[in-house]
Amino acid sequence: MNRHTLPWRTALVTGASSGIGAALARELASRGVPSIVLVARRVAALDALAAELAEGHGTEAEVLAADLTDPAARMRVERRLAAAGAPVDLLVNNAGFGTSGPFFRLDPDEEEREIALNVIAVVRLARAALPGMIDRGRGSVLNVSSMAANQPSPGTATYSATKAFVTLFSESLFEELRGTGVTVTAVLPGFTRTEFSDHVGETSFDSAPAFVWMEAEQVAAEAVEAVVAGRALCIPGALYRVANALESPLPRSARRRLIGKISGFTLDRR
Ligand SMILES: NC(=O)c1ccc[n+]([C@@H]2O[C@H](COP(=O)([O-])OP(=O)(O)OC[C@H]3O[C@@H](n4cnc5c(N)ncnc54)[C@H](OP(=O)(O)O)[C@@H]3O)[C@@H](O)[C@H]2O)c1
Repeated sequence: MNRHTLPWRTALVTGASSGIGAALARELASRGVPSIVLVARRVAALDALAAELAEGHGTEAEVLAADLTDPAARMRVERRLAAAGAPVDLLVNNAGFGTSGPFFRLDPDEEEREIALNVIAVVRLARAALPGMIDRGRGSVLNVSSMAANQPSPGTATYSATKAFVTLFSESLFEELRGTGVTVTAVLPGFTRTEFSDHVGETSFDSAPAFVWMEAEQVAAEAVEAVVAGRALCIPGALYRVANALESPLPRSARRRLIGKISGFTLDRR
């Protein structure tokens, strides 16, 4: 991959304490972004990453501990994004989690938290960051969606719907902002080795074959290149780009039945 020089002075990455978010922070630091704000709930993990980035790359890493499902905590992150004196020119909305299982049995409060994190926080943080970026005529937002956004997904109904929101929201903003110098990119990872599956509920990802798994570092590198190139969408990994091209022409009804069969979460016992 042709690695461009990164144009940003300060990035803010949510969900930076593990997985794709930590890999994104490392990718940005290793490629010379001088200042990175790290957001998540686990302070110790954020402190350790901040020390690693400072030592390894001279990055000025700021830890901003926040539960993004808590409006008061989220507001602190919104204020940081809107602070005129310390402008953030790359916002990475990465924090997210998925629930799985038959929807009618899932904990409704957990479903609401999933929407609060995967959707509401993405909207609120983008809304906080964009006015300053538009005024300055430069800046980018990277939203982490998922391949699960591309088709109805029995067994992960709320999760895939939140990610469909993220993709459409990002693409709509991309067009709204055309000509402003500000871009919005959605990255749609497939199976990626992170802590995601520790929190996902009833679905076991262990049965997924080895060849479908990507490393968080690959997802991060391809996503950052897509933002630099000003692209609206990024599907990391050749395998997933091919799968996307093959399934796109299938009728929606066929795609949802197919996923229902594969997932084993359909209640149709005929
Ligand atoms: N792994 C995959 O296969 C895959 C595929 C497609 C898309 N994705 C997406 O990639 C993104 C990153 O997930 P990951 O795979 O890297 O999983 P991960 O290792 O579990 O990371 C999730 C991150 O989100 C943070 N987070 C969770 N709840 C939070 C909250 N209430 N407030 C603030 N931060 C919170 C976590 O930090 P704390 O626990 O410290 O708060 C952690 O840093 C998610 O949006 C996910 O949907 C993952």
